[in-house]
Amino acid sequence: LEKITINTLSHKSEILIGVNWTSFINYLHGRNAAIVTDDNILRLYGKHFDKVPFLSITPGEKNKKLELINELAAKLLDLGVDRSGFLVGIGGGVVCDIAGFLASVYMRGIQFGFVSTSLLSQVDASVGGKNGVNVGTVKNILGTFNQPEFVICDPLMLKTLPDDEYLSGLAELIKHGLISDSELFNTIEQNIESILKRDPSLLIKLITKSVEIKASVVGEDEKETGRRKILNFGHTFGHAIEAQSGLKHGFAVASGMVIAADISVKLGMLQPEDRSRIFNLLNSFGLLKDYNISVEKMKEFIIHDKKKKGNEVDFILIEKTGKSSIKKIDINQLISCYKSTFKNL
Ligand SMILES: NC(=O)c1ccc[n+]([C@@H]2O[C@H](COP(=O)([O-])OP(=O)(O)OC[C@H]3O[C@@H](n4cnc5c(N)ncnc54)[C@H](O)[C@@H]3O)[C@@H](O)[C@H]2O)c1
Repeated sequence: LEKITINTLSHKSEILIGVNWTSFINYLHGRNAAIVTDDNILRLYGKHFDKVPFLSITPGEKNKKLELINELAAKLLDLGVDRSGFLVGIGGGVVCDIAGFLASVYMRGIQFGFVSTSLLSQVDASVGGKNGVNVGTVKNILGTFNQPEFVICDPLMLKTLPDDEYLSGLAELIKHGLISDSELFNTIEQNIESILKRDPSLLIKLITKSVEIKASVVGEDEKETGRRKILNFGHTFGHAIEAQSGLKHGFAVASGMVIAADISVKLGMLQPEDRSRIFNLLNSFGLLKDYNISVEKMKEFIIHDKKKKGNEVDFILIEKTGKSSIKKIDINQLISCYKSTFKNL
């Protein structure tokens, strides 16, 4: 068992990695609790949470919307959950976002915790206190910053995760190594086979390291005014690729990381050999898929990026494995870099 405490100005949150997930019950202390989960998790794991009332949603990103929050709130009222109640999200990033957002606004806020069941949510979505829902196709437009009381990450639950979901989460784990921990990056490079086999003891180590990285960044800058932005490495182009090619998030971010590495080389910040290591690692997990997005379309998407300020974006560059930096780059310069690296992709 590994335990990491996230301290922000307003809250203390505990992340438990390698515990049996059913131990979440110990954190409820007999309170009036409800579970939010999805139909896949209910089918696979539901028989173990029959002691707490549960609300199950249809899986999928398109259900992460305000209408669902409304419906779930009405059900919580029916269950008699009051301000002293507790909400547990058991699922991947979608369930955690919904449960965290619902708990943050229900009766002006009740306590909540997560059993995080996908690799993406264990290393990323359930750590950091961001909770949000989409408006139409625009992601996470309505949301809160609010930390869960606990997050449980049981690597054995990852055994039932579909391959593409597992690999998608792995891209974010690799990202954490790349932006701030060369040792994590090296460990991933040296253990490709065991990672693909989902070896639980190795996963505990990797998830712990990854959560530590995210926790330290979030602890310094909970509301993303500065250093937290490094977590967006690969995401400027990644989001554009995800939206236009339909690739899963992690696969799109993997390609976004290669573009960001190419741009870092072009700006003289990264050695070409390091760029090759990054490319080769992502490629050995099958994370680099074909996509075909014209320079014009890419530019149009980045111009509409909600994180841009005026004509500039805070772009995350990589200097070597384990070291990143934030630089304001004019969108035209970014696109001209993309254009000149496009032929290499
Ligand atoms: N709040 C944040 O800081 C943050 C950060 C990153 C991502 N996110 C959000 O996370 C979401 C993506 O998360 P995700 O990739 O976990 O998606 P998801 O929750 O949709 O899960 C992916 C699929 O895997 C299934 N699944 C989950 N765990 C399983 C298991 N153990 N066994 C079998 N099937 C399982 C789910 O039912 C679903 O079909 C996005 O909505 C994204 O915006 C939020």
